[in-house]
Amino acid sequence: MQRLEIPVVSYNARTAAFMTARGFHRDGCGVWRDAAGHSFAASLAGKEAPAAATRTWGCQMNEADSETLRGQLREMGYVDAPVDDEADVILLNTCAVRGTAADHALGEIGRLKRLKTERPELLLGVCGCLAQMPETVEYLRRHAPHVDLIFGTNNLHDLPGLLQRAYRDEAQTVDVWDQAPETVENLPSRRAPGVKAWVNIIYGCDKFCTYCIVPTTRGRERSRRPGDVLAEVERLAAEGYREVTLLGQNVNSYGHDLGAYDFADLLRDVAQVPGIRWIRYTTSHPRDFTEKLVRTIGLHPKICEHFHLPVQSGSDRVLRWMNRGYSRARYMELIGHVRRLLPHAAITTDIIVGFPRETEEDFLQTLDVVREVGYDNAFTFQYSPRAGTPAARWEDPVPPAVKKERLERLNELQYAISRRKNQALVGSMQEVLIEGPSRKDPDVLTARTRTNRLVLVPKREGVVHRFGRVHVTEAQTWTLYGSLAEVEPGV
Ligand code: 5AD
Ligand code: SF4
Repeated sequence: MQRLEIPVVSYNARTAAFMTARGFHRDGCGVWRDAAGHSFAASLAGKEAPAAATRTWGCQMNEADSETLRGQLREMGYVDAPVDDEADVILLNTCAVRGTAADHALGEIGRLKRLKTERPELLLGVCGCLAQMPETVEYLRRHAPHVDLIFGTNNLHDLPGLLQRAYRDEAQTVDVWDQAPETVENLPSRRAPGVKAWVNIIYGCDKFCTYCIVPTTRGRERSRRPGDVLAEVERLAAEGYREVTLLGQNVNSYGHDLGAYDFADLLRDVAQVPGIRWIRYTTSHPRDFTEKLVRTIGLHPKICEHFHLPVQSGSDRVLRWMNRGYSRARYMELIGHVRRLLPHAAITTDIIVGFPRETEEDFLQTLDVVREVGYDNAFTFQYSPRAGTPAARWEDPVPPAVKKERLERLNELQYAISRRKNQALVGSMQEVLIEGPSRKDPDVLTARTRTNRLVLVPKREGVVHRFGRVHVTEAQTWTLYGSLAEVEPGV
């Protein structure tokens, strides 16, 4: 199969056309300025060096999108707002996956009304998955007229034009696209400090799990071309990044629209990029997780031996209702491949309890799978109906109190397993990437193992963002403690 007819366009070329038509050119720092030296941001806000703030809810895809928003803001000439009170623009990048995530964002939008009333010149934008839903747009139109700009996941790379319209228009500016008409390359990104970077490889999701809003909010699957992904990883390596996490709603669908090249091929090729030491990827769907992929991961030491395989339920009938496309037996077969080929790999999962019509018997089967696999960690959720998904229309006789109680029982089991798994590592030596000072205690450094476990070590000067080895001395449910045995020289 050849690539879908989605054209690929360059952000740089398009933005250059937009900016030059308005009399702006790039300065030596990459900021768009007019002939008088005013930045594009200054021309919008009517003041020099206006400040912007972004806030993000949700998954790593949303984190990566916010980095793209911040990259665009920097090129326009916005500086960082240290606090909301000093921001000229605030962008809220929202998540719609569960009611709780949506409520947090809506609560924040409500709280910002005070600021907007005090400073009407503040420009407030709402974007991300929640903004992609017609119900939210309707809600914000009626109840949050203080929001100036609403845009979706498919046009977040149009930020300069969107901001310009929002400044110009009296009324709320709403521009949400149902589909991505093109894949945009060379997106600017302002990444978090450090040596780790997110790299999108596939956008959207075609799996249509019956509980999930993502196919609505993120559209159809679109793989980036391998050459574009590899060029980005090479650029990152040249800039000093050492770890990349390949991102997608479903990374192992990568390449379904590209022909014979699949996710295992991409991992193999990314592993050849000099300078990149560790490769991670998220999220996987067990349906497309092949034995070839497990073998590829085993063959390349740069690919971290961590498998995040969301099982969602241990009951075959619930899996069917969820439209997951695998049975418990098929899932366990996959776990078997991982355990056989990479016995020391970490396996983590996502689980939903209280799906409509889930019985105690169904739930006990989920607990059974959790015991049988022995997950290193699990992200557990109470089912949350999402308007527009098939499951939200189904009768749901499971009382909320029962769902809550199931979640507590599941967590109790998983916490015990996580603790046991961590305790088994006491006395071992673990390869780590040192991240930086702990937020809670500046005398402690945080580090991550290849299996993405958090390790705390006593502070040492000059070791941040380096790889090293830690002797693990103590373990709790979520955290390992240890001492740095070796640190590699910096690069
Ligand atoms: N209710 C509860 N959990 C959900 N997830 C996705 N949709 C829902 C929902 N409607 C969970 C799944 C998914 C994770 C990212 O969020 O477990 O893997
Ligand atoms: Fe939330 Fe899903 Fe959107 Fe990520 S893709 S932000 S998890 S709704």
